[in-house]
Amino acid sequence: MTLGIKRIAKTFVGEVGDFDIADDHDAATIAEVRQALIEHSMLVFHGQSLTNEEHIRFSRKFGPPEIHTVSQYLLPDHPEIIALANRGENGTKPIANGGAYWHADITYKAKPPMGSVLYSLEIPPDGGDTLFCDLYAAYDALPDETKDRIADLKAVHSYHQRFLKSRAIDDGYKKDSFELSPEQLAEIPEVEHPIVRTHPESGRQTLYVNEGFVTQVVGMDEEESEALLLDLFQHSTRDEFVYRHEWQVGDVIFWDNRCTMHCATEYDTSHARRMHRTTIQGDAPY
Ligand code: OGA
Ligand code: MN
Repeated sequence: MTLGIKRIAKTFVGEVGDFDIADDHDAATIAEVRQALIEHSMLVFHGQSLTNEEHIRFSRKFGPPEIHTVSQYLLPDHPEIIALANRGENGTKPIANGGAYWHADITYKAKPPMGSVLYSLEIPPDGGDTLFCDLYAAYDALPDETKDRIADLKAVHSYHQRFLKSRAIDDGYKKDSFELSPEQLAEIPEVEHPIVRTHPESGRQTLYVNEGFVTQVVGMDEEESEALLLDLFQHSTRDEFVYRHEWQVGDVIFWDNRCTMHCATEYDTSHARRMHRTTIQGDAPY
């Protein structure tokens, strides 16, 4: 088959027409989807209706599932799915402000996931959009002297500090509080990744630091590190690199975590918002 894809933002984002994610797609079709993902960095599908099994089956065709450390957010019968649901559901803890900071998913692991497949099940009447940015475009637009300065630098990525910060602001967490167990903490030691990452499939370079999980530049004093990171965070999320997605129920977005970031936006949490995400394992950044 040949996918019908329309580019809907200036430098990235492909909108895929007439494609049913629920089908048991053959290898040739999956290869086309992967190629399209590499070309557009993220793919938007509308009008999907998926069982948990269909969602997981599609996702698995791109690689083994990354299972999130915070098992409290996972569907008990389908740990491949993390529920971002402000009411909680089916035994999961609620998340009201999940991902309301710029990040790519799970960059705090030694091998961060290559992609995520997010399915919208319930959305509030207003707001709750998700912002995405293009990290190839952000890297390309850096001044040469900044590119030289960061070429060989690494940054520390950490989840625990984010968990602590998020629970201080998250209504869902405040209502239904829990701690990470020693076993969970042991799964999330700090890791270091290069600040300039080479995408293993496209060979292009991306700016690989994010507000959510990066805490410092390795080997730099704190003040200088904070100033550089702030500069890079602000640069990478400039309007010209950003696409805003206004969700409809049944939308699915498949994004590449190696060359995009995303950020949840505000909405009135007296309305339900419920999204399901599968996450696909990836490789160590270089
Ligand atoms: C995610 C995420 C943001 C949102 O699913 O990884 O950060 O707007 N979601 O739900
Ligand atoms: Mn996320």
